[in-house]
Amino acid sequence: MGYSDIYDAWKADPEAFWMQAAEAIDWYTPPSKALFDDKAPIYEWYSDALVNTCYNAVDRHVEAGRGDQVAIIHDSPVTHSKREITYFELRNRVASLAGALKAKGVNKGDRVIIYMPMIPEAVEAMLACARIGAIHSVVFGGFAAHELAVRIDDAKPKCIIAASCGVEPGRVVHYKPLLDGAIDQSTHKPDFCVIYQREQEVAHLVEGRDFNWYGFQYGTDPVDCLPVEGNHPAYILYTSGTTGQPKGVIRHTAGQLVALNWTMDNVYNIAPGDVFWAASDVGWVVGHSYICYAPLIHGNTTIVFEGKPVGTPDPGTFWRVIQEHKVKVLFTAPTALRAIRREDPTGAFIKKYDLSGLQALFLAGERADPDTIKWAQEHLGVPVIDHWWQTETGWAIAANPLGIEELPVKLGSPSVPMPGYDVHILDEGGHEVAAGQMGAIAIKLPLPPGTLPTLWNADDRFLKSYLNHFPGYYETGDAGYKDEDGYLYIMARTDDVINVAGHRLSTGAMEEVLASHPDVAECAVIGVADTLKGQLPMGFLCLNAGHERSPEEVIKECVYLVRDQIGPVAAFKLACVVDRLPKTRSGKILRGTMQKIADGEEFKTPATIDDPAILDEITDALGRIGYAKKV
Ligand code: COA
Ligand code: AMP
Repeated sequence: MGYSDIYDAWKADPEAFWMQAAEAIDWYTPPSKALFDDKAPIYEWYSDALVNTCYNAVDRHVEAGRGDQVAIIHDSPVTHSKREITYFELRNRVASLAGALKAKGVNKGDRVIIYMPMIPEAVEAMLACARIGAIHSVVFGGFAAHELAVRIDDAKPKCIIAASCGVEPGRVVHYKPLLDGAIDQSTHKPDFCVIYQREQEVAHLVEGRDFNWYGFQYGTDPVDCLPVEGNHPAYILYTSGTTGQPKGVIRHTAGQLVALNWTMDNVYNIAPGDVFWAASDVGWVVGHSYICYAPLIHGNTTIVFEGKPVGTPDPGTFWRVIQEHKVKVLFTAPTALRAIRREDPTGAFIKKYDLSGLQALFLAGERADPDTIKWAQEHLGVPVIDHWWQTETGWAIAANPLGIEELPVKLGSPSVPMPGYDVHILDEGGHEVAAGQMGAIAIKLPLPPGTLPTLWNADDRFLKSYLNHFPGYYETGDAGYKDEDGYLYIMARTDDVINVAGHRLSTGAMEEVLASHPDVAECAVIGVADTLKGQLPMGFLCLNAGHERSPEEVIKECVYLVRDQIGPVAAFKLACVVDRLPKTRSGKILRGTMQKIADGEEFKTPATIDDPAILDEITDALGRIGYAKKV
């Protein structure tokens, strides 16, 4: 059967489609049906089943006689180390950690925050939570103490599992002081912390609160997997919204198991036993779905890579990993390829390695520009597949499903909707627009299994953020169009979210930080085009009359402030001082126009603008910070 047959079969009978997909999962009690719509528009899947994620990701492979297969390969050029963990070892390590957590009072439904770098222990911590029904919330290591504190206050974890440090090229990231700072700042305090001490930096433990990863497991019994309901939350993953308060995306247990497992065969075309590598970070959704859960549920070997595409030590690292570990499918962000291409435009490093085992390269996280795709196609000689998804969906909304049928690739398009997603392009009034016309991209409810049912403790925000604008649809926050063949093109965000090096960031959150500077009266942050990172944040600052510091000093302090409050990952380094911000007569800041000016694009002066002369001032201010070349 081809893609169209399978998509049509899903559309004709979604219930049968998802019940059939569920057969690949091991249940304690199988679901009586797939969709539970009694709380619509909050939909749930397989709610009445009993199941355990860790059992499906680990134990069942050991019981099936595959215990000796490598489950996790840690390849860490930044620490010059490599390590392999078999499924058998993984089962024992996770059961032991889970037992120690349980002995300290972590029970089903309790939250556990995980703040760790790219080490196997991060995946083990996630699985240990799943084993006992605890709900994990992984926080990306590039976020600062304040961001961690915000998440602690929202998730209210009983326990935090962290590492003593992370390793970025050229510097050690001191996780423990960041963690201590976050706990100082947060109102909610965890009962205890578990710290994995790395040899690169051994952290000071707080007596009575902090426990050493190994010492804490001593003398406790390993535990078995706890059956949980299909709609039991597996995790909360915070993602950027329009404000400084991130959205806590919830993932339910059974839907995630079924959907992710389905994608491994049908989207990625990978068989159990094969090596799958998602070069991302466990702190992002790609890391949750495709470093940790999907490959393990499917019985693959997953790679936990602690390094960068370039500089660790050179732009050949990705190709070395593929050759050395026999990677069949690589999944990364276009930024990583742009970084490699910038240092190795002719693909000289690619030629040094045997990539004959590589079957396909998948890209996601940001728009894949046609040039980058063409470069990869030419040098790698395998299908280069752009696919589109979000933290909220947990798996691809649109892709070229290699396991079903390799559809013709259209550059600039992540191809077609996957079964489960009925994608529509709508105008402001919620009417479908014609093929080729831009509109808001919305998905007809219900969303498929594995997607977010709601936000953590925030049903109202869920409805307001995603469902209210277009009744009956989930609003993706992306704008784009569909062509005559039904291929989707994802062009821009409709909200204040920007995408910097494949990392999703909120300009609203940055504005909140800038506004806290004593000399800043008003500010706006926009995303400007960047050839490497896709977008970079740029701040426009209006200073208070009689401001104490010079504009240059304010800019410097603001750059520091964003790094300190949000974290280095915000990559906020560009800012300029302006007298006024361009606004409509009703006071709305014209961010879109500012972005076009900064990117040197053609624009029409908006009819609603309060004072068109301000646009020239914006151009001048950009010139003052050396950004005039783009204008
Ligand atoms: N912990 C601590 N700091 C981190 C971090 C982490 N896990 N990840 C990134 N940072 C820091 C970086 O060290 C950098 O700090 P600096 O300002 O002191 O240099 C800052 O955050 C910005 O990081 P980034 O935007 O990633 O820039 P970079 O120059 O370090 O790397 C790329 C550029 C393109 C090599 C890198 O972004 C990359 O590999 N991107 C791939 C995208 C990706 O994996 N996306 C995940 C979603 S699929
Ligand atoms: P995140 O939640 O971090 O995965 O970011 C999701 C957002 O990244 C989407 O809403 C898009 O704006 C963007 N995005 C992800 N994948 C793609 C893609 N393949 N093409 C274009 N944009 C993408």
